[in-house]
Amino acid sequence: MCGIVGYLGEGNARSIVLEGLKRLEYRGYDSAGMSLYDETEQYFNVYKEKGRIQALESIVDMERSPMGIGHTRWATHGKVNRENAHPHRSADGRFTVVHNGVIDNYSKLRDLYFDGHTFQSETDTEVVVELIAHYASKMPSQDAIRKVLKMLHGSYAMLVIDALEPGTLYAAKYKSPLLIGKSDQGIIIGSDMMALVGTADNYLPLDDETFVRITRKNFTQYDLDGEVLPYTMSKLEMDDFTSEKGEFDHYMLKEIHEQPAVLRRIISKYFNETHVHIDERLLKTIRQHERIHILAAGTSMHAGMIGKELLESLAGIPCEVHIASEFAYQQPLLGDKPFFILISQSGETADLRACLLNLKKANHPSLTITNVRTSTLAREADHSLELHAGPEIAVASTKAYTAQIAVLAILAYSMSEQTFDLKRELSEVAQAMEHFLDRYESVETLTTNLLTKRNCFYIGRGSDYHVCLEAALKLKEISYIQTEGFAAGELKHGTIALIEEGTPVIAIISNDKTAENTRSNLSEVKSRGAHTLTITFESLSENGDEIVLDNINPSLAPLLTVIPTQLIAYYAALKRGHDIDKPRNLAKSVTVE
Ligand code: F6R
Repeated sequence: MCGIVGYLGEGNARSIVLEGLKRLEYRGYDSAGMSLYDETEQYFNVYKEKGRIQALESIVDMERSPMGIGHTRWATHGKVNRENAHPHRSADGRFTVVHNGVIDNYSKLRDLYFDGHTFQSETDTEVVVELIAHYASKMPSQDAIRKVLKMLHGSYAMLVIDALEPGTLYAAKYKSPLLIGKSDQGIIIGSDMMALVGTADNYLPLDDETFVRITRKNFTQYDLDGEVLPYTMSKLEMDDFTSEKGEFDHYMLKEIHEQPAVLRRIISKYFNETHVHIDERLLKTIRQHERIHILAAGTSMHAGMIGKELLESLAGIPCEVHIASEFAYQQPLLGDKPFFILISQSGETADLRACLLNLKKANHPSLTITNVRTSTLAREADHSLELHAGPEIAVASTKAYTAQIAVLAILAYSMSEQTFDLKRELSEVAQAMEHFLDRYESVETLTTNLLTKRNCFYIGRGSDYHVCLEAALKLKEISYIQTEGFAAGELKHGTIALIEEGTPVIAIISNDKTAENTRSNLSEVKSRGAHTLTITFESLSENGDEIVLDNINPSLAPLLTVIPTQLIAYYAALKRGHDIDKPRNLAKSVTVE
């Protein structure tokens, strides 16, 4: 999704803003732009280009600047083109704005205030900048900006430059994330912590409905009525995991390979010698509730499905999983004493934020499980648990999925009467992951031989079925092969009609109770021409099974069976020459509903 970076200070805004935008590339974008202050000409130049940041960089003809703002756009209102790229400038040339989020009432405001005005772009943002200019002709710019913010419905993270105040930058936030970082050199502001790393020593995530006035050395935070809000900044500490690709060709491949290390790290964070340490107040609160509702989207929801099985089987607590975007507007009957777990790698997903706002209004208790400690969902839920997976840069989530399952397993275990040694079992999973990853390249040939059609099926039962849903999502999002994850027994009730000569069908078999049934379903599709591949464990394997994994505790099987499916997706995308880390149409952090 869109990214924002702004800088004011003694450093060079040109390189700091461009570097910040590059660090946000992983979020997905289709055009980029920036505005830099030219001290000699006393003028803010605007540069924008369709496509990659490199294209923008090549047209920025200034070497140095003390102040600048930049933006990567993921189109929502209007086509992908130069005109719609940010920054947007008011027709009188005074105000320049970059904006993340969506202004729902922009067309109403446009018709009300600007009848007959010709806009340069199709964006909601241009209406906002014109409104600011309109009111600033009648009052101080700070008041004009706050007045306009109060008129907006929707979401925004916004930076505003007033050409009449070249040493000042204004920022505002509602629903879309925005963080301010500070060092002795200056102030940086970004929509993602990654933009601040390397430039700031301390940071402050802004709250909703805050308005900030930034100068080279300092900033003041206000509410929308102009009352000063106090703040305390936190020290910015970089994670142990680097955000560089290292020896790997793609971030996705690197992140797949990091999974054993992430699992070991989670073990070290959540266990001491023998016991789990999760805040006893959280466990006590959950125990006082009768049903857990898991809310999540995409891959995180697939991890939630495995979490449900673990919470029900280990802790004996009934649990339901909901698609966040549905739950936000179609809340089912919740029953007595519901407890909510929100799962989100980024901690910024707008669909989940919409759910959380409703939960808070109804006084329902909540826990966020996230990879980003400083994220909105982590800050706003009653409790939070961290994934400790390190930055996940590839759009297709891999290590966050396994980290989510591991943390859910630890949570379920810590509320159970179980006596088995989860710490040891998880360590064995890490070892088995590593053992498989040592021979990962064999998956390339298997994938190339199998995935020759435009469609594919994953089949399995129980938790294997839930891993199939994730495997199918991974394959379609980066290889663009139409893939379905299916409950193996359900295929014959209609969908088997799609099986023809050469249709790829991949089976996941990890459960001894259902292994034979799934194998029968595999035979059914084989006899109708399907080309098949089996992923299973040593103890369940038969002659001819293509991917055989080390035996582990069966309740943790998804942590391991998913890994070959991630590699299948990777190699299918590689073979097709796709942009693996930035698949088309997708964004890493989905901050619009
Ligand atoms: C797919 C993927 C997405 C995310 C989903 C939720 O690989 O990454 O399906 O899982 O957009 O994002 P988070 O977990 O950040 O809430």
